[in-house]
Order: sequence, then structure tokens, then C-alpha cells
Amino acid sequence: MDTNNPLALLGGLTPAQFMRRHWQKKPLLIRNAVPDLEALTRLDMADLAERDDVESRLIVQKPKGWQLKRGPFGRRSLPPFKQREWTLLVQGVDALDDDVHALMQQFRFVPDARLDDVMISYATDGGGVGPHFDSYDVFLLQARGQRRWRIGAQQDLTLQEGVPLKILANFRPDEEYVLNPGDMLYLPPRYAHDGVAVGECMTYSIGFRAPQRQDLVRELLQRVAEDGEDETLYKDGRQAAACEAPARVPAELQAFAQDAVTRALKDPRQLARALGEYLTEPKAQVWFDDNPGAAETAESNWPPAGGVALDRRSRLLYDEHHVFANGESWRAAGRDAALLRRLADEHGLDARALRTASDDARELLLSWLESGWLQLR
Ligand code: SIN
Ligand code: CO
Repeated sequence: MDTNNPLALLGGLTPAQFMRRHWQKKPLLIRNAVPDLEALTRLDMADLAERDDVESRLIVQKPKGWQLKRGPFGRRSLPPFKQREWTLLVQGVDALDDDVHALMQQFRFVPDARLDDVMISYATDGGGVGPHFDSYDVFLLQARGQRRWRIGAQQDLTLQEGVPLKILANFRPDEEYVLNPGDMLYLPPRYAHDGVAVGECMTYSIGFRAPQRQDLVRELLQRVAEDGEDETLYKDGRQAAACEAPARVPAELQAFAQDAVTRALKDPRQLARALGEYLTEPKAQVWFDDNPGAAETAESNWPPAGGVALDRRSRLLYDEHHVFANGESWRAAGRDAALLRRLADEHGLDARALRTASDDARELLLSWLESGWLQLR
């Protein structure tokens, strides 16, 4: 993707301009961003909501207030399509549908490490999830019908109490737009918004996660700890008799603990490795179908003539020293690193590129084919 190429997807802005002017800063309304979107249908949505490997939610506006239910939903447990004011939300559709996955690839002017998933909502007339804010950057792409968005730059993000959804207590919108199919609205994190269906409507939310410091601390420290092998014991041969205050934690023991943690975090590569593993960890609902046949076919006839493609469920990232795939990491250097990085950036490798793989890289790719992380093209 050319950084300086104007994109209809961004209303004629180049990716560089969009990132500079809008990303994490201010909203952007783009009319006709995706003109010929082949959107899912409401029946597709109902099918997805029936699956127990898919995260779905149903939000119904009742006279008494909001009602939230979590899926899976049998056909009979969804309200009738004729009933007003309900919304069905399905998470992670990019991992389930090729077209949605392909659509998400258009947003790769943002690093993959930030890309989260595509959530799709189907709503009947008047349906919505109430005024709220998200912690994510989001592109709200209108896929079917119309939705009226009201948005506001308010600082007061106090939430209503006693409701099953995150609803702003004092929503004060300052702009309003009606989106038609193909139109898109970008919102930075914590921007207040409320979208209400005008007739039947479907909206795709292309979401970008921003890791929270505390989550990173928890996740990374745990991974670093699991890998540590330092069995050095605390020694206190010079400990004086503690008769006066036996319950006091010795300062030397505190220093030993501090030093242990500092040592464990000293190697920046280890933290980088833990981060890459964390960022590529598959979502709870994602599983891969083993495909030993593909690995055998590729092995007996290497390189496979059509090349290989990354499975749409796979997450593949790299840094200076590692390649990360689906929560695991490998050290990679030289020619193999170049090959695996290309696979990560382009999501596929042709036979010519595969021919350059070392024995180790070939074994790795075959094991990914076997695990269903890669597919034969
Ligand atoms: C929706 O699609 O109904 C809600 C999306 C959002 O507001 O984030
Ligand atoms: Co939202």
C-alpha cells in the first residue's frame, strides 16, 4: 500500500494524511468509502449467532430499559424481524468470512498489531446500543440501510448506573450524520457516539485495540516469569538476630526481590518476545482445523506450485529478532527472517519465494500447514 496514494476509502486522503490529521485525534466522515460492499444479510447474521464458537450479543430496548443477552441464539430466541428496536452484534467476523476478512485488509495502513476485529451489527428500526464511548479506534462502515449517528467531543464520560450496557449518563452530541450504505465514520477512542437504525440496518465496526498499560504488565510479566530459569536462592548469612522485631520484612530481602524482578526484565528482547506472543494470541473463540493432508502434499512436492496463504484466522507479526504466530515465537535471522516477514506482510508466498526457504524454515511452514495456520493456494 502506497502511503501517499489518495484512497476513496479515506475520502481522498492518503494514508499518511489520514494518520497525521485524524488517527487518534478527530472524527472523519467519509461518504461512499466502500461503494460496492457485498454485505452479509440478516440471515447470515442469524446463522452466525447460532454458532457456539462465535461471540454474539442481543440488545433489546424494552419499555423498562435495556436488555442484554449473550449468544449463541437459536432462531426462535431472536426477536421477529418485524419487531422494532433490537440489535444483534457479532464479534470477530473477519475470522469467519472471506469477504469481511478481505475488507479488513484495506485498513492495513494501520499496523497489524493494532488491528482487532470486525464486529457486525444488525438492527431493526430504531435499534442501537445507546450513547457510549469505546476504548478503541473504530471505523463504522454502513453496510445496509441507514443509521443516524450523533457524536460528541465531550469530556464527561460518566456512565449510567444499574444498566447492563455502558451508557453515557450525560450525552451531549455536537454533530449528526445519517450514513447510507458504503459511508463510513472514523472515531478516535473515547469519542461519545450513538447510532440509531433508520429502518433495518447493518453496520460493520472495524476496531483497533490499544493495549492498556496494566494489561501489558500482567500479560508480559507472566510470560517472562514462565520463561525464567534463575534458581538463585536468597542468602542471609549476615542476618543479625531479629529478637526485637521478628515480624519485620528484612530490607535485604526486599532488595533481593527488587533485583530479581529487575534481572528478569533486563533483556529487552525477552519483553519484545512476550509482547509479540501476546499480540498474536488468538481470540478465545478461534480454533484452527488441523490439515495434515496439506502438509503431506506440500512436503512431497516442495514447493507447492500455487504457494501458500495465511489462514484468515492466523495472526502473524515480527520484530527485529523474532517472528510471532498465533501466540508463539521463533528467533529468525537472515534469509529465513526475510521470507517469514514477507509472509507476514503479504499474507502469502508464491512457489518462487518458498524455494528460498532453508530446511528449518520449510519445516516450520509445513508445521503451520499441518496446524491449519497456513493454507495451500
Ligand atoms: C452498532 O453497530 O450498533 C454499534 C457500534 C458502536 O457504536 O460502536
Ligand atoms: Co461504539
